[in-house]
Amino acid sequence: QEDLFKNVISHAKEYGYIFASSEIYDGLSAVYDYGQNGAELKNNIKEYWWRSMTQLHQNIVGIDAAILMHPTTWKASGHVDAFNDPLIDNKDSKKRYRADVLVEDHAEKLLQKAEKEIAKAKKRFGDDFDEEMYKETNPRVKRYLGERKEILERLAKSLTEENLADVKALIEELEIADPETGSKNWTEVRQFNLMFGTKLGASAESAQQLYLRPETAQGIFVNFLNVQKTGRMKIPFGIAQIGKAFRNEIVARQFIFRMREFEQMEMQFFVRPGQELEWYEKWKEARLNWHRSLGLGEENYRFHDHEKLAHYANAAADIEFDFPFGFKELEGIHSRTDFDLKAHEEHSGKKLRFYDPEMKENYVPYVIETSIGLDRMFLAVLSASLKDEQLEDGSSRTVLKLPAVLAPTKAAILPLVKKDGLPEMAQKIVDDLKWDFRVQYDEKDAIGRRYRRQDAAGTPLCITVDHDSLEDQSVTVRFRDTMEQKRVHVDELAGLIKKETDF
Ligand code: GAP
Repeated sequence: QEDLFKNVISHAKEYGYIFASSEIYDGLSAVYDYGQNGAELKNNIKEYWWRSMTQLHQNIVGIDAAILMHPTTWKASGHVDAFNDPLIDNKDSKKRYRADVLVEDHAEKLLQKAEKEIAKAKKRFGDDFDEEMYKETNPRVKRYLGERKEILERLAKSLTEENLADVKALIEELEIADPETGSKNWTEVRQFNLMFGTKLGASAESAQQLYLRPETAQGIFVNFLNVQKTGRMKIPFGIAQIGKAFRNEIVARQFIFRMREFEQMEMQFFVRPGQELEWYEKWKEARLNWHRSLGLGEENYRFHDHEKLAHYANAAADIEFDFPFGFKELEGIHSRTDFDLKAHEEHSGKKLRFYDPEMKENYVPYVIETSIGLDRMFLAVLSASLKDEQLEDGSSRTVLKLPAVLAPTKAAILPLVKKDGLPEMAQKIVDDLKWDFRVQYDEKDAIGRRYRRQDAAGTPLCITVDHDSLEDQSVTVRFRDTMEQKRVHVDELAGLIKKETDF
């Protein structure tokens, strides 16, 4: 698995998919650039998502809001006050941790101890066992659970700017040690907001503090009424958006899995209050089906339902993908209630309501959100597609079995030799096809090496022009995945490429 991940990273660079940002200056941590093939693949993923949202659903429209937004947006959304990580450093190891995670891990251990006792008792008492009663009466279990509850309550209370010293006190009192070195020598806890700040305006005094958006969703919420009115949308309806988001992540690693600058594809679906859980279930299923439709393997996906919910949600789940480093969140589906629209009403003083002609009533709609990281999707596609194959003749090949609909180049056009009019005929084919498909002309190296190069770059079809082609206007089409070849008349090429690579 670790090898696969290393291979994915080096393959991504070698074939022009992903480069470290500003690499000649040794890069910028957790920021990446997409190369000539990466940009195409990324665009194709966007297109695949955008079409499925805005073309296949009559009641979903797309917008493109600005990255910079009025700063009150982030007050209303809760990001100014609550989008923080409390950090603590260990003075000896110089390692940095999230203080809340250290405490939560400690509390988790108490829970595990209690569960162990309960499991033992269950075995002893069999069918007569009353778990609730046992929790109340067994002194040890009662103590573990009580301590855990108290710790979590104290943690929750101390996670505000004024009370951060209490988090440190808690860590010291519980004698929590650096998980790696065992040292208990901690610094103060500092609140660290994940938003990137920037300034609008020329002079230092009058400049306004702005933020680079940490999620695209708020651009949709603030435009809810604009879109509803001008698009004459009736509930239920959705607004989709693709765009950059920025987070000053502390633990930023795992290649493009956790980045400081990344892209999100989000859709907010506005529904009648009371119907949100029904729609939540529908969207969970619809989103999983969308992923499955790409054919990367059903076993690579699973749901993770959240037990601990954010303050604005009444249900939430992740679609997790089996990345080279294990199952991790790829997409979130959240039932966000009316939290966001209500908060924007309060902060802006403007009504954000919908008049429901059937109910003859005004209300703030409830929202189901589907939110997927485009870069994570890119990593999922790339890592599930990269294969090293042993061939029957004993040789091996590296092939990027990208879903054809997402492949950067749909077909490579290859003259068998660089003479006798073959390049001219190949070029003519390129000129005919390029209006409808991204195709590439390649004449360098022996034909076998060119096939291998296109396999590794993920090109689904190779089209070879040989001497017979000049006579009968037919060419050899080679399929990337099966390596099968067949003879096709040039007039049939467009139809074939469309069939093999279309949506
Ligand atoms: N509007 C809801 C929202 O932003 P989130 O769970 O914070 O929810 C949604 O983010 C998705 O965005 C995640 O499932 C993930 O795919 C992607 N994402 C979040 N942080 C990311 C990061 N630092 N780098 C890359 N993708 C990220």
